[in-house]
Amino acid sequence: MRAVVIRRYGVLPVVEEVAAPEVEPGGVVLKVEATGLCRSDWHGWQGHDPDIVLPHVPGHELAGTIAAVGAGVSGWAVGDRVTSPFICACGTCEQCLAGNQQVCLRQLQPGFHYWGSFAEYVALPFAAVNLVRLPDALDFGTAAGLGCRFATSFRAVRQVGRVAAGEDVVIFGCGGVGLSAVMIASALGARVIAVDTNPAALELARSYGAAEVVLSSSNVVPELLELTDGGAQVTMDALGSAAIVQSALTALRPRGRHIQVGLLPGGVQLDVGRLIGQELEWLGSHGMPAHAYPEMLALVASGNLAPDKLITRTITLDETPTALAALTNGTPPGVTVITP
Ligand SMILES: NC(=O)c1ccc[n+]([C@@H]2O[C@H](COP(=O)([O-])OP(=O)(O)OC[C@H]3O[C@@H](n4cnc5c(N)ncnc54)[C@H](O)[C@@H]3O)[C@@H](O)[C@H]2O)c1
Ligand SMILES: [Zn+2]
Ligand SMILES: [Zn+2]
Repeated sequence: MRAVVIRRYGVLPVVEEVAAPEVEPGGVVLKVEATGLCRSDWHGWQGHDPDIVLPHVPGHELAGTIAAVGAGVSGWAVGDRVTSPFICACGTCEQCLAGNQQVCLRQLQPGFHYWGSFAEYVALPFAAVNLVRLPDALDFGTAAGLGCRFATSFRAVRQVGRVAAGEDVVIFGCGGVGLSAVMIASALGARVIAVDTNPAALELARSYGAAEVVLSSSNVVPELLELTDGGAQVTMDALGSAAIVQSALTALRPRGRHIQVGLLPGGVQLDVGRLIGQELEWLGSHGMPAHAYPEMLALVASGNLAPDKLITRTITLDETPTALAALTNGTPPGVTVITP
């Protein structure tokens, strides 16, 4: 099969012929119909992820049709249209048994722990726990986003951030994660303020429901405090930036919640005194388990959420290495989908 192969960190990957994955007991092999280009793929290519072993095929935000079904898998057949959370959970560890598959102790992530979906085929383990059947009306490109960024934002905003109608929510970074969060928080009735350095991304944020948009600068906090009359109830770092974390924490009202979705490979210093004195919550959020998908899919089916509108660009496998490398210099507005 053809796949995007990383041989050295930070060096342009190459599209090559490689062996297709074998189907494992309990798992399936998917023909990849669409796969999203997420900034986590860029982090992996940069060498920020200790789980990756070279040579490596990235890609974890995926949708496709089942091409092979492993021994012991029931309820799934060749040809079924599916997506999967990028955190493939084992289903049997203590966290999985408690319903917290997003922090599974034996999780396997395609595109990180093993070869991912920037390829014609990808293997998915633990089919019983992770496969999500796609409604007929949902196209593969839109469904791919449900494998990572849209679903991650859904859980981050709803379950982790507990965003409620009428609250002021500031989203820092309006790429795939941030724009999804803008759409989801707006649909929940929050007043969303979107922050980005790219005016085109802010224009998209407004079209997905942001009440206010703010062009990011080194001194964005006073403007946010004014727009929120003293501070937001919720902030979210949807880029992964130590500077954003500091701005976000100072833009919160007392007892505010900060949601951290953007990765911070260099770590970050927190003003713990402020966290204590203002009773702020600093909340990590990681993906979303398959059992939480029905609520999100119902909101998509009813038209309250429209993840299809986030897609601004569809590219081929051959165009993927350059598109991945270009993320070093910024993000094209909206979501990029690859059709292998
Ligand atoms: N926690 C999880 O489960 C999870 C899941 C998916 C992605 N992620 C991480 O989330 C982050 C976002 O991913 P993405 O694919 O949406 O990224 P992206 O590259 O699509 O978007 C980043 C956005 O941030 C904007 N930006 C850049 N500098 C800025 C600044 N100083 N202030 C405000 N905005 C700025 C860019 O213009 C862009 O619109 C990444 O770190 C990714 O690895 C985490
Ligand atoms: Zn991702
Ligand atoms: Zn588990």
